[in-house]
Amino acid sequence: MLGYSEQQRSKTSIISHLLILLIIITIIIEMCLYNKIFKSQRSDDIRDNFRNGGDQVPSMVQNQKPHDGGKGYVSGVYYSNWSPYTPRFHFPHDINLMQVSHVYYAFFRINSKTGGIESTDSWSDLEMNLYKPLAIKSSQLVENNLNDSVQNILPLGCVGELFYLKNACSEKKFKVIMSIGGWSDSENFKTIVGDDKLLQNFVDSSVETMFKLGFDGIDIDWEFPENNKIEPQGYLKLVKMLRLKLNNLESQIFGESIEDHFQISIAAPAFKDKLFFLPISEIDQYIDYWNMMTYDYYGSWSETTGYHSNLFSETELSGNFAMHYMIDEFSVDSSKLVLGMAAYGRSFHIKDSKFQPFTQNTVLINQHFKGVGKPGKEIDKADGKEGIWPYKSLPKKGTIEQYDPKYVSAYCFDEKNSIFISYDNTKSAKTKAEYVMHNKLGGGFWWESCGEAHTNKSRSLINAFNEGIRFNVSSKPSMFQDMRVIKFYLNKYGDDGFLSPYLKHLESSKQ
Ligand SMILES: *[C@@H]1O[C@H](CO)[C@@H](O)[C@H](O)[C@H]1NC(C)=O
Ligand SMILES: *[C@@H]1O[C@H](CO)[C@@H](O)[C@H](O)[C@H]1NC(C)=O
Ligand SMILES: *[C@@H]1O[C@H](CO)[C@@H](O)[C@H](O)[C@H]1NC(C)=O
Repeated sequence: MLGYSEQQRSKTSIISHLLILLIIITIIIEMCLYNKIFKSQRSDDIRDNFRNGGDQVPSMVQNQKPHDGGKGYVSGVYYSNWSPYTPRFHFPHDINLMQVSHVYYAFFRINSKTGGIESTDSWSDLEMNLYKPLAIKSSQLVENNLNDSVQNILPLGCVGELFYLKNACSEKKFKVIMSIGGWSDSENFKTIVGDDKLLQNFVDSSVETMFKLGFDGIDIDWEFPENNKIEPQGYLKLVKMLRLKLNNLESQIFGESIEDHFQISIAAPAFKDKLFFLPISEIDQYIDYWNMMTYDYYGSWSETTGYHSNLFSETELSGNFAMHYMIDEFSVDSSKLVLGMAAYGRSFHIKDSKFQPFTQNTVLINQHFKGVGKPGKEIDKADGKEGIWPYKSLPKKGTIEQYDPKYVSAYCFDEKNSIFISYDNTKSAKTKAEYVMHNKLGGGFWWESCGEAHTNKSRSLINAFNEGIRFNVSSKPSMFQDMRVIKFYLNKYGDDGFLSPYLKHLESSKQ
């Protein structure tokens, strides 16, 4: 827990950051309004301005052949709802939304007593006011485009901001998916799959929450089901019931003429020990994507050091092994497999003098280690975990970034402190993108947005991955860009829905 004064300070700091982001949002809004008026001429300007006015922010998908809506690869990223807090100060608009197809919003959790879904932080998700400070600051832009009447209808919190952003700009389409679970919520999955009533509540509540908050689908992140009598089959049942419930919602909205659907993805373990007993082929019928967590292969729990997000390896711990296992063992269609990448490094403290001095030939993997090293204070606080380094803080000060093409991993080594850190960089991202194309996979995703080097195009991981897939990024629009969805929402919730005021505004402005 933070002390009171620290909380105050962080609030003040958050507010000042909010002011900055609101100005950016205003610019986006203005450019979108411009876009409506001068559609063809203005698109370059919009692009430039979405880039934050700066020249360092990664560019959007550009100079590429137009592709039809749905075709193209997933370029996804997880956004965590603890990102807005000190010292991260990372907001949804910081994501380069012009380059992504999916934002996975992490996490919603399960209430183990009811089976229902609930916010893990309602202030961050739904309440943080991203629009009010702008009115206080009041500039010409504000007066013209974000006057009181408009501000009051915009949805709040990070969930609200993402909803707003995916509807505000027509240049690049992306979906926002509600991610349920996560590492710390695995017990509750175990509870609900053992009880039919809780499971039914879970399914009903998931779909209800997803729709009411304007998400385009559900991501199940159960880490991990155990090999017992209940959980593998329970997992299958959960996913099947979820798909049926979503189908039901879709037929209520669209009748027979469905053009797109609410998606289901699974954040899946990417190693044999946690996969072999799961009914993968059966689950596969009900879901859109397997977000394979092809990272965290080595860490504090390991016997030796290793690259944590390597694509290749002599062992079974690699992205390549996991992908082939899913295809060969379970006949999963490769285009449903999404390669997970890490916007963070994992470190090890190697206690051995033979690594000094460090040369290109020094082998740092498969070594014994003592602890995982302690990132600097700032970094440590940013993640709350030892041994985890946000990509944007790498390579560690005083070290030089290295690349191992055999394993497809970047790393750096701090000789003085014997700290070895492995991670993904732009080279490994590009190589992984080529791997995705070569193997006709569905695409790639990053955990998590906060670590990305958003402000430096040549350093940006998402940009590097997209370059690798030739900027062929899927751009299916949000379900909520369909007027039938908006009408259904307003019918269902009247004035009481989280999005009702804003959707009413959209409805009247589109008519
Ligand atoms: C874009 O990606 C899709 C896979 O989703 C592929 O079928 C298509 O050929 C790609 N298009 C181009 C121009 O490379
Ligand atoms: C506020 O903005 C909206 C939309 O741009 C406009 O319709 C409305 O007239 C404005 N209100 C005031 C008081 O300027
Ligand atoms: C951006 O990253 C590159 C390396 O990829 C580096 O040379 C350059 O100094 C960085 N620019 C800024 C403004 O940090």
